[in-house]
Amino acid sequence: MAENKGNSSYISGKESRRITKFNRQVTRKLEKERANANKDPNLYTTKMKDENNVVEFDNVCTYFFSDVGTVKAVDGVNFNIPKHATVGVVGESGCGKSVTSLSLMQLLQRPSGQTVGGEIRFNQGDGTALNIVNTPNSIMEKLRGNKISMIFQEPMTSLNPVFRIGEQIDEVTELHNPEMSKEEVKARTLEMLELVGIANKEGVYSMYPHELSGGMRQRICIAIALACSPTLIIADEPTTALDVTIQAQILDLLQNLKDKLNSSIMLITHDLGVVAGMADYVVVMYAGRVIEKGTAADIFHNPCHPYTIGLMKSKPVVGKKVDALYNIPGSVPNPVNMPNYCYFRDRCEMQCEHCSGKYPPEIRISDTHVVSCYRHLGEGETLGYPKSVNVEELL
Ligand SMILES: Nc1ncnc2c1ncn2[C@@H]1O[C@H](COP(=O)(O)OP(=O)(O)O)[C@@H](O)[C@H]1O
Ligand code: SF4
Ligand SMILES: [Mg+2]
Repeated sequence: MAENKGNSSYISGKESRRITKFNRQVTRKLEKERANANKDPNLYTTKMKDENNVVEFDNVCTYFFSDVGTVKAVDGVNFNIPKHATVGVVGESGCGKSVTSLSLMQLLQRPSGQTVGGEIRFNQGDGTALNIVNTPNSIMEKLRGNKISMIFQEPMTSLNPVFRIGEQIDEVTELHNPEMSKEEVKARTLEMLELVGIANKEGVYSMYPHELSGGMRQRICIAIALACSPTLIIADEPTTALDVTIQAQILDLLQNLKDKLNSSIMLITHDLGVVAGMADYVVVMYAGRVIEKGTAADIFHNPCHPYTIGLMKSKPVVGKKVDALYNIPGSVPNPVNMPNYCYFRDRCEMQCEHCSGKYPPEIRISDTHVVSCYRHLGEGETLGYPKSVNVEELL
């Protein structure tokens, strides 16, 4: 954006009016383009790069056109969710984890939130894929809660306080299976309640959410999410609102059900402990970009990006005595005005001569392990740079 006064958040009246006008023009144009793309199946049907994946995020850019400028919440994100796998997405608060999952569900706050670049491919299981970015809402409605479902952080706010538990689970099954009779739907709900470990299923069926504990409510949310045996379960901080013993139970439950239903899980969390026990693959995000990805063993036993190394050092380990946990110095750059060099540079204690150059490329240091950091330049194939979108060119 022009006239940016360094990194300060000060905006003049003139600049503010310019941003508002720009936002109005650009969001109107994007909404129009989306409406057109929605009409043409060729623009939203595609093919997976690898049939073994359920989802492929390919250079996804999701921006918010806000009053203070464009927030590049997700900027050139690349990673895959393989079939039957659990992929942990980790990073500190605000790094774009939720926006990545909301882009996949097409649940962004529009018109200010827009996926302006890249493809999100969802495997339909019949040799074709949907590019979610252009998929019309009528198709998304059939996907959400059916093929892809979501479990949120706070079970109390995800459940409707004025409806009984049974009705809320019934509703999902009914919506996606209109041919089922009332009795069949109820039987399915009771089966789901049993599956998520609720002992008194008939009793709970007619209770209200406030009558249940936090852990029980999260089990209900899981039952709702799994009612239609989804291909992909997105769990966004599913245990953050729960106490530690219940956390472990809920994670065990999720893992077991995933195996039973043959689904994949995208597990979003800021808690490395949660990922360590459960994920097959780990994606580390920082300031809207993926900075390192690999198998859980790659990330936990051989972290390569200085940020991941810092995260590992700042994680308490049972039985290891330390005076103070490591603290990554500095803070995340201003999201409206990202630098054109490595986003972590101002906090990085391991800089090398290349770090003053442009944002580092992705480097494949093993078959499964990819890192975006100049320290590893030459250690493997250079895959390319994350593709950002110049918003001025959108008009
Ligand atoms: N509706 C919104 N309007 C403007 N900015 C948003 C909105 N939602 C999220 N953001 C910004 O996007 C970035 C990523 O947010 P989010 O994905 O929610 O982070 P987290 O990794 O904690 O889930 C943050 O900088 C946040 O300020
Ligand atoms: S590219 Fe350089 S500044 Fe960035 S994380 Fe790697 S070493 Fe640090
Ligand atoms: Mg979040």
